[in-house]
Amino acid sequence: MKVTVVGAGAVGASCAEYIAIKNFASEVVLLDIKEGFAEGKAMDLMQTASLNGFDTKITGITNDYSATANSDICVITSGIPRKPGMTREELIGINAGIVKSVSSSLIEHSPNTIIIVVSNPMDTMTYLVHKTTNLPKHRIIGMGGALDSARFKYRLAEALGAPISDVDGMVIGGHSDVGMVPLTRLATRNSVLVSEFLSEDRLNQVKEDTKVGGATLTKLLGTSAWYAPGAAVSGLVQAIACDQKKLFPCSTLLEGEYGLDDICIGAPVILGKNGIERVVEIDLSDAEKEHLQTSAEGVRKTNGLLEL
Ligand code: LAC
Repeated sequence: MKVTVVGAGAVGASCAEYIAIKNFASEVVLLDIKEGFAEGKAMDLMQTASLNGFDTKITGITNDYSATANSDICVITSGIPRKPGMTREELIGINAGIVKSVSSSLIEHSPNTIIIVVSNPMDTMTYLVHKTTNLPKHRIIGMGGALDSARFKYRLAEALGAPISDVDGMVIGGHSDVGMVPLTRLATRNSVLVSEFLSEDRLNQVKEDTKVGGATLTKLLGTSAWYAPGAAVSGLVQAIACDQKKLFPCSTLLEGEYGLDDICIGAPVILGKNGIERVVEIDLSDAEKEHLQTSAEGVRKTNGLLEL
């Protein structure tokens, strides 16, 4: 199993680190445009191998896509991250050009790869990768929902005073401050609906804290987060590499599901060796349906800024 991670910045390096630590991939190639940067990150990570007990070989390369040839999975983290006060949508001008050229270069050397998109605005970048590569829809996956759901579970556990392992919950919709749809109605604490423990007001607070999860961290860190994004990607990569058939909310090209068409947006999917093996349609309440439609309108507006 060969995995390429494009972009050796904080998210890309974190992603490579978590993949390696989980020890399921034989090789991770880290690629960056900055001379020597990916090589340095790869060497530093490889020097943790004996300490952290992994055998995954991590190599770094400066902008030479031939080193990525025949990757089973490619992760695109390239582009600029947001600064405090910025929305993810504001990154489109710079990131669209980068993601377009990166995805073309990847496909040239790994025509059978599955692509995971992390760069922001993530749903629009996932759509752009579709338009650029023409790959079948099951081979293009946007990472947002997996990350947003992890942040949702963190906030739920905090509100419940419960361990995170007791909590389950999912965020669908767009990966944006307004577009996320945290499904509080369905969230559980070890099979018991969280509404048994938390008031509507407290649940609304959890929802709002989840939606601005990335912005809160950007304000604290001065740039966008990397540990949870990296871990979320590694979870998706592992589900595919190990054919786990795990359910994650991911950005996927919808063709009628949830009443949406020709848009990439977060929905529950089953991930296995073929990438997205199924889009799962769940019954949403009227309020959730409305929120998802509004979220889709936001994503479409950003898609409209693409030069396709
Ligand atoms: C975040 C970025 C990765 O939410 O979108 O942290």
